[in-house]
Amino acid sequence: MKGKSPGRANLIRGRFARGRLPEVEAFTASLPFDRRLYRHDILGSIAHARMLARVGLIRPAEARAIERGLGQIEQEIESGKFRFVTSDEDVHLAIERRLIAKIGEAGRKLHTARSRNDQVALDLRLYLRDEIQNVDELIRVLRASLIRVARRNLDTTMPGYTHLQRAQPVSLAHHVLAYVEMLERDRERFAQALARTNVMPLGAGALAATTLPIDRKMVARELGFKQLAHNSMDAVSDRDFAVDFLSAAALLAVHLSRMSEELILWTSSEFGFAVLPDEFSTGSSMMPQKKNPDLAELIRGKTGRVIGDLMAMLTTLKGLPLAYNSDLQEDKERVFDALDTIKPALDLMAKLWTALRFDRAAMRRAAGGFALATDLAEYLVARGMPFREAHEIIGALVRETADSGRTLEELSLAELRRYSHVFAADALSVLDADHSVARRTVTGGPAPRTNEKRIKELDR
Ligand code: ARG
Repeated sequence: MKGKSPGRANLIRGRFARGRLPEVEAFTASLPFDRRLYRHDILGSIAHARMLARVGLIRPAEARAIERGLGQIEQEIESGKFRFVTSDEDVHLAIERRLIAKIGEAGRKLHTARSRNDQVALDLRLYLRDEIQNVDELIRVLRASLIRVARRNLDTTMPGYTHLQRAQPVSLAHHVLAYVEMLERDRERFAQALARTNVMPLGAGALAATTLPIDRKMVARELGFKQLAHNSMDAVSDRDFAVDFLSAAALLAVHLSRMSEELILWTSSEFGFAVLPDEFSTGSSMMPQKKNPDLAELIRGKTGRVIGDLMAMLTTLKGLPLAYNSDLQEDKERVFDALDTIKPALDLMAKLWTALRFDRAAMRRAAGGFALATDLAEYLVARGMPFREAHEIIGALVRETADSGRTLEELSLAELRRYSHVFAADALSVLDADHSVARRTVTGGPAPRTNEKRIKELDR
């Protein structure tokens, strides 16, 4: 016989006279990356086998043999003894072939009423269900490290920026708690992704379910799913849950990139608001003085990958006809890559915030000056002046003060009164950055008391 033999190595080539070209085998295999699903594949197969025994499609002793065999295979994989070969195509066939080699006839019954199409959908959902919970835990750790910084800096006054120009004084706590709010929304999005992931597809078969009397509810119970996929064609072709996860991951990565940028700015000599600990800095191969924020830069930079993972997944799904198509095999690497990027980024970001040392005096110095102009305008408004008039008066005051090379805190009451007779002795106390922050007690404002209250809510 010429050409490759169909090969006893592969379980599903009964209808073929010849084997595949090796380069076709290599190009189409998912085994190099879907091996990562082995634990969840085994978990799903055990639940399936128990169900097959319960409904009488296999004998209880066969189900026990399958379960035992799969347990051993799991150990073989974990200890590195398992031999993965590309001719197996994917993790599903690799494990099934090994099971048959180990336990014989009973192993050949495992795939009853099942296709790799519903199997892989199940595996990825089981895997992602665990991983989304791991991501949530990492977000909680980062959130806790931010809240710790906030709690210690309720009255650390610093400039708030718009257009990266000093705008009004805020506190470091207020600034950091803004990121906590982003993370709160990220957690909601991951929780929604988890809910959409937590649906049980097994029983859909290749696309059209099965004539055999299976019990999908039992499998769902065994695996802790609250919901069954309602339509077998949707069940094998739906990857919306992967898109939901990737979109939550992309937005989280965007948030981390903003945080990174802020740390890069703060630790620059230009800002000098914080010092980068040695453990988190990199040197330059040429310039001996350099202390570079590579970690923050790369967290910022890797955002591109995660957004790319989302775009790639959406593009893979676009225009796909029902039901399963091999294009869907591309889902896994996108999910894995996003996980492998955001998990260490979250972990390191939490450590970085914890290690950061702030120069509170530098922050305070930068917070005053013209950033108090709005407070002066509000002083006039509080005493009955229309805001537009106050805005114009203080605008002129700022222009003339800046032109003469001075700043607002240097002005005397007599000088203020040259702009408006509404200014009285208490006007000078407005020209203090700490006081300015403390007075903004409105809900959502930066006053220490207000943020203390928000931290209490977040702690619940
Ligand atoms: N390796 C495949 C995947 O990752 C499993 C399902 C394959 N089904 C098929 N009919 N080729 O999606």
